[in-house]
Amino acid sequence: MIAVSDARVLSAQPLEDELQTELSLRPRRLKEYIGQQKVKANLEISIAAARKRNETLDHVLLFGPPGLGKTTLGNILANEMNSNIRTTSGPALERPGDLVAIVTNLEKGDTLFIDEIHRLPAPVEEVLYSAMEDFYIDVVIGQGPSARTLKVEIPRFTLVGATTRAGLLTSPLRARFGIVHRLDFYDAESLSVIVRRSAEILAIPITRDAADEIARRSRGTPRIANRLLRRVRDYAEVRHEGRVDTPIAREALKMLEVDDYGLDEIDRKLLTTIIERFGGGPVGVNALASSIAEDRGTIEDLYEPYLIQIGFLQRTPRGRAASKLAYEHLGYPLTQRKQTELF
Ligand SMILES: Nc1ncnc2c1ncn2[C@@H]1O[C@H](COP(=O)(O)OP(=O)(O)OP(=O)(O)O)[C@@H](O)[C@H]1O
Ligand SMILES: [Mg+2]
Repeated sequence: MIAVSDARVLSAQPLEDELQTELSLRPRRLKEYIGQQKVKANLEISIAAARKRNETLDHVLLFGPPGLGKTTLGNILANEMNSNIRTTSGPALERPGDLVAIVTNLEKGDTLFIDEIHRLPAPVEEVLYSAMEDFYIDVVIGQGPSARTLKVEIPRFTLVGATTRAGLLTSPLRARFGIVHRLDFYDAESLSVIVRRSAEILAIPITRDAADEIARRSRGTPRIANRLLRRVRDYAEVRHEGRVDTPIAREALKMLEVDDYGLDEIDRKLLTTIIERFGGGPVGVNALASSIAEDRGTIEDLYEPYLIQIGFLQRTPRGRAASKLAYEHLGYPLTQRKQTELF
């Protein structure tokens, strides 16, 4: 199949056909997990300390934008602790009973991974509090006036919670995690290593420079880097002999309409709105959110971080402003006044 341009090619969310490949590309041990040096160094210590004391690992909260490796890291933690992992998600745990069924079936030392933990219904979250803190749950038996509460002990386990929206977590829940780490966008060097590692697993012949080229345009996100690699391979196989070098990578990325900075539609919309409707800013985040019909939290948690990281957007006390770089990249002329005003 030949790669064709697709608005979703830069989406940080997994596409339907990607789950299997993602599984095969997922590192299994901490030493195979590329980048995120600080997080890794801290987790190495937590793991080593827990193992030395023969204890379960403290509860871990991982947060950060989609596709940066939260699920991967959760699985790695279980592997490193030689523990079984049970995986569920906030929205899947609809009623307290759903959580009770899971935790009462855990064995000592097991890892419970809850994805999208910010979406736990409040009554479920309450059950989680005592489970996390004191390893018991209150089970209500019977109904009406004869109902009574039974305190049921559960084995010590490690909860690994993952979320893209740390801002939506309640403070009592957050306070019950002993280990909290934010995953940041990857630098181009780490992404290039990830691209080359994936290319080896998928048996794609690729040059170092071509890997760098893909890495630079992947929005700091391993999931996108792996996707672009596979799309570039399709192109190389159909139009060339399958080998991926820089000119071929560039042609393919051009055809996929992936720009030099890997901006997607919403990034662009956000920036052009600031430039066209708000004179470049500063504009309050609420006004910006309603102009582009996105919610404020989505902008703050999912879009801004990357734009700020690449220097296209500035967060000021008076609101968000587009940078000179953003004007230049999107092809807007700078007026004399803007030249001196913009950062
Ligand atoms: N540090 C890393 N080294 C190598 N590959 C990685 C790394 N982090 C992520 N990946 C790759 O990126 C893919 C996406 O990672 P993962 O599913 O763990 O992200 P996520 O943060 O859980 O995303 P979401 O928020 O959508 O759940 C994985 O399949 C894996 O192949
Ligand atoms: Mg995940």
